[in-house]
Amino acid sequence: METQKIEHGNSGVSVSVRRAVSSDVDFFRNLRNLPEAVELSESKQKVAAEDHELWFKEALLSSNIRLFVLQTSYAANHQKTDIGFLRFESREHEQDESVWFVSIVLLAAYRGKGVGRRALLLAIKEWEASLHGPHDALIARVHPQNHASRRLFEGAGFMEVDQSSGFLTLRRHQLQDPIN
Ligand SMILES: CC(C)(COP(=O)(O)OP(=O)(O)OC[C@H]1O[C@@H](n2cnc3c(N)ncnc32)[C@H](O)[C@@H]1OP(=O)(O)O)[C@@H](O)C(=O)NCCC(=O)NCCS
Repeated sequence: METQKIEHGNSGVSVSVRRAVSSDVDFFRNLRNLPEAVELSESKQKVAAEDHELWFKEALLSSNIRLFVLQTSYAANHQKTDIGFLRFESREHEQDESVWFVSIVLLAAYRGKGVGRRALLLAIKEWEASLHGPHDALIARVHPQNHASRRLFEGAGFMEVDQSSGFLTLRRHQLQDPIN
């Protein structure tokens, strides 16, 4: 079922997020294979269509992954356009913490307009609402030169906790930084 929330910003553009569905498979692969997203990935490789299709199918069913599509629409035109995705993934972490990792990619034409900020906050709310139990933290891993990403997460209450791996690790604690 589609989950959707809309916020109106100064630009007259509405931003919404919805849970991904099976027909979003190619959209996710196209964004994931953008050069800047490949550079940010752990493998530093594009994903092949067959591997991606398998992963995507499993991801939609997994209790450890939540995929969201970001959409915009203009006041004069209510038709929504898919412009990015957000991925939340639970992975094993130190001291048996319940830790989730978040990543976000927007189509290049929609960056730098405040869309990422609004979409991240909306998606975090939806992700939290979808959880069945408490979590200890939400983590973003950001390239040190990725200023937009760093500011995006810091503005959403994430704090830098580590930079030893070539990436900055920013962490948002559940109770420390509630989102209104
Ligand atoms: C990172 C990304 C999601 C940010 O979304 P966005 O819509 O472009 O960001 P916003 O316009 O909401 O801006 C967020 C913050 O970054 C700043 N920012 C935006 N573009 C910037 C740029 N090119 N350089 C420096 N800062 C920038 C904004 O000023 C804002 O900070 P502020 O509120 O402190 O002023 C988007 O740029 C993107 O998809 N990049 C490619 C993929 C990627 O890097 N993903 C992150 C990996 S987890």
